[in-house]
Amino acid sequence: MVNQIMSSKENLMTPKWEMKYETGIFEIDLQHKNFLALIKKVELIETGILKQMTIDDVLEEIIFYARFHFRSEENLMKEFNYPELAQHTEKHKLLSNNLLQEVSNLMVHPDDIAHLHHYLINWLLDHILEEDKKLSSHLKNVI
Ligand SMILES: [Fe+2]
Repeated sequence: MVNQIMSSKENLMTPKWEMKYETGIFEIDLQHKNFLALIKKVELIETGILKQMTIDDVLEEIIFYARFHFRSEENLMKEFNYPELAQHTEKHKLLSNNLLQEVSNLMVHPDDIAHLHHYLINWLLDHILEEDKKLSSHLKNVI
């Protein structure tokens, strides 16, 4: 479980994309890579490398991108009769709600950017390794 690997409070580098994260579905992999690039922006703000862009600007991108990404996956699931559509969609809702919760926490505790950064890394990698891998096996069998 990724959560157990990345639970420390110290500054964390955003992981680089690795083959083990590939689902083999081009559209999904491309979106996951873009997501990782957005998480990297959070790190660059956290470490002071990006100076003009604020965390609010990037969070807005992340929230919109998450919505877009989840809808893309849900459309693929519908199109190809994925038997776990309901459960996967429910997980998307939960992730979106947790993300909004993290964002409102950051509004109250602006210094918690490291916590948000950890959270996003865990969130993306768990999402890929636990749910999207199952989805991609299904899609590869039917496409
Ligand atoms: Fe995904």
